[in-house]
Amino acid sequence: MSFLSIPFHNLIDITMKILDTRDPYTFTHSWRVAGMSEKVAQLLGLDSEYIEIIHVAAHLHDMGKIGIPDAILNKTSSLSDREYESMKTHSMKGFEIAKKIEILQGVSDYILYHHERWDGGGYPEGLCGRAIPLGSRIIAVADSFDAITSSRTYRQGRSYEEAFKEIERCRGQQFCPDTVDVFLDNQDEIIEVIEAANLEIEQHKTDYVYK
Ligand SMILES: [Fe+2]
Ligand SMILES: [Fe+2]
Repeated sequence: MSFLSIPFHNLIDITMKILDTRDPYTFTHSWRVAGMSEKVAQLLGLDSEYIEIIHVAAHLHDMGKIGIPDAILNKTSSLSDREYESMKTHSMKGFEIAKKIEILQGVSDYILYHHERWDGGGYPEGLCGRAIPLGSRIIAVADSFDAITSSRTYRQGRSYEEAFKEIERCRGQQFCPDTVDVFLDNQDEIIEVIEAANLEIEQHKTDYVYK
């Protein structure tokens, strides 16, 4: 097989497997974020090509964490200001990786801006409102929802109900109001997507171990 004929989805799969080896939490988190982001993009009525771009960007949104030192990435207590500044570089690092891979250039901006906030208080550029690409605004909501509901070694994840309330509380401050409205109006579908993603992750782990 010629390497030039590697299909796009295989390239994404390879990238995700590398990420999984470096940081299994980011891999499983990103899988759920990709499912939710794709669903929200569909519910917003975006065209199929844009939905695909958002889906891929969501899978890779945290890939820049590959460049964050273990001592910070795996720290279970709170980060110092300096460590937090280092952690924040992951969106720029992810952008820089995507920019260098021709096939991923179209997703690079969505990775770069996934920690911007609707009210302008995010990073790296402090973009505000609709200046933030829609794909990044969608990923931001899914990203936070998953962070709130995920259990880590140092804390128990919160319930879906509490997480939906938290997303609602941050509507128009941290998050794009249109995205939040779609997210909150379709809670059953969002939960279905998360559970489907968790099953896919289990299947992936089985394939990964035995193949
Ligand atoms: Fe991130
Ligand atoms: Fe994330």
